Amino acid sequence: MVVVNDYESFQKERKKLQGSVGFVPTMGALHSGHLSLIQRAREECDFVVVSIFVNPTQFLEGEDLDKYPRKDEADKKICQRAGVDILFMPTVYSIYNRDELLLEAPRVRGFILEGAKRPGHFDGVLQIVMKLLNIVKPNRAYFGKKDAQQLALIEQMVRDYFIDTTIVPCEIVRDESGLALSSRNVYLSEDEKQRALSLSRSLKLASDMISSGELDTVKIKEAMQELLLKSVDKLDYVAIVDREFNNLETVEIGNSIILVAAFVGTTRLIDNLWL
Ligand code: PAJ
Repeated sequence: MVVVNDYESFQKERKKLQGSVGFVPTMGALHSGHLSLIQRAREECDFVVVSIFVNPTQFLEGEDLDKYPRKDEADKKICQRAGVDILFMPTVYSIYNRDELLLEAPRVRGFILEGAKRPGHFDGVLQIVMKLLNIVKPNRAYFGKKDAQQLALIEQMVRDYFIDTTIVPCEIVRDESGLALSSRNVYLSEDEKQRALSLSRSLKLASDMISSGELDTVKIKEAMQELLLKSVDKLDYVAIVDREFNNLETVEIGNSIILVAAFVGTTRLIDNLWL
């Protein structure tokens, strides 16, 4: 595995890769969720590129950019063991210029749910993912369904801007208690971890209701809210949308996503279920 920190060094290494390239963009503090993407890329492609870059432009004022977990040495070992060919860890200065040309998330899908709670967040996500796809030029790029709206917007960007990369959605990895893995879980105390389980439990409750024939999204959301409000400190939203992110009145099996976002302590968590 080679580790490179700027565009020019990356290009030198990229030219040596003769075959299909799978790419996994991350912000580091790697966990089994990230690893599942890397493993999938390893299985499906001749070469695997991973990037680790805590992208400043996707953090809002007052968010956790400064304290976002950084574990470079441990991450390098994980990538090495997972058979990564190039680990790209660029500096902020090698990625961003002054007075940049900017990208904007679509006005509707980019400004609901996560986009409404974190206005501007997706502009930054699309900006960095566009840059990384142009630098790495992968055949396939792997993204987790954990960040469902991010995934949908990246798929749209690739379509709208005719980018020659296949986006591969990957399943959510959870720990044995059901908590969706996230780099931000390290912020949680034991008590908060217990309370954070209410997110996955609310999704389980929704799926049980749907299995027993309840398809009315208002009723499902009410039941989820009741469960969540007993445990979380602030509920940002519970939503049931179709795969295009339009609100649904009735669950459509095979075309629905149930999403939840909430604060436990000061940590903001998201989770979702694809039906
Ligand atoms: P990060 O939060 O590090 O996540 C990197 C990738 O791992 C994303 O595609 C995310 O959806 C996926 N992922 C995270 N937790 C997961 C889990 N429990 N199961 C499956 N996949 C999981 O998402 C970002 O970074 C950034 O926004 C990025 C796309 C790198 C742009 O900066």
